[in-house]
Amino acid sequence: MPVRPASGTDAPEIASLHAQCFAEAWTGEAFERLLQSENVFALLAREASSNRATGFIVVRVAADEAEILSLGVAPRCRRRGLARELVLAGAATALGRGARELFLEVGVDNAAACGLYRQLGFEERGRRRGYYARREAPSQDALILCRALPIAAWESGANSTSLPA
Ligand SMILES: CC(C)(COP(=O)(O)OP(=O)(O)OC[C@H]1O[C@@H](n2cnc3c(N)ncnc32)[C@H](O)[C@@H]1OP(=O)(O)O)[C@@H](O)C(=O)NCCC(=O)NCCS
Repeated sequence: MPVRPASGTDAPEIASLHAQCFAEAWTGEAFERLLQSENVFALLAREASSNRATGFIVVRVAADEAEILSLGVAPRCRRRGLARELVLAGAATALGRGARELFLEVGVDNAAACGLYRQLGFEERGRRRGYYARREAPSQDALILCRALPIAAWESGANSTSLPA
C-alpha cells in the first residue's frame, strides 16, 4: 500500500483511523493543529484500489531526537506489515530531518505494538508507572522505547531485542 506524506487536509481521515485504533480518540482539529507545527510530520497509507486510508504515523522531530506521537492501522488491514512499513518510512523521514534516535511510549500490555517495536530493534529506556489511565481497568505502565537511526529494513527481523513478549 502506498505510504505518502500527509497534510492538514488529511486530518479528518487520520482522526477517523485514530478513532478505530484507540479508546480515547483525538479530533480532526487536534491533528490539524499538530500538522501545522513545522517539526511534526505525518505519513498516511492508502489502499491502491479504493484510495481509502488504511494506516498513519505522526512523528515529532526536535534537534537530533524524534518521537512517534501516534501510530495506527485500520483493524481490517492488520498483520500485513503495514505498521512496520509506516515506522520504517517515518524513521527514514525523521533521519532526513536530522534525528539520530527515535523514541515512543507504549502500554506494557499492548502486545501487538510491543511485538512490532521488538521486531524493529527498539530497546527499553524507562517506564512511566500508571501512565495510561483507564476507565474500567487498573492504570497501565508505559514503556519508553528508543531506536538508533537509521533502521535498515534488513534489520527488522523477529525477536531482535529483549523487550517483554
Ligand atoms: C500495533 C499496530 C499498529 C500494528 O499494526 P500492523 O499493521 O498489524 O502490524 P504489522 O503487520 O506491521 O506487524 C509487524 C509485526 O508486529 C508484531 N505484531 C503485530 N500485530 C501483532 C499482534 N496482534 N500480536 C503480536 N504481535 C503482533 C509482529 O511481530 C508482526 O510481525 P509478523 O506479522 O511478521 O509476525 C496495530 O495493531 C494497531 O493499530 N493497534 C492499535 C493502535 C496502537 O496500539 N498503536 C501503537 C501505539 S504505540
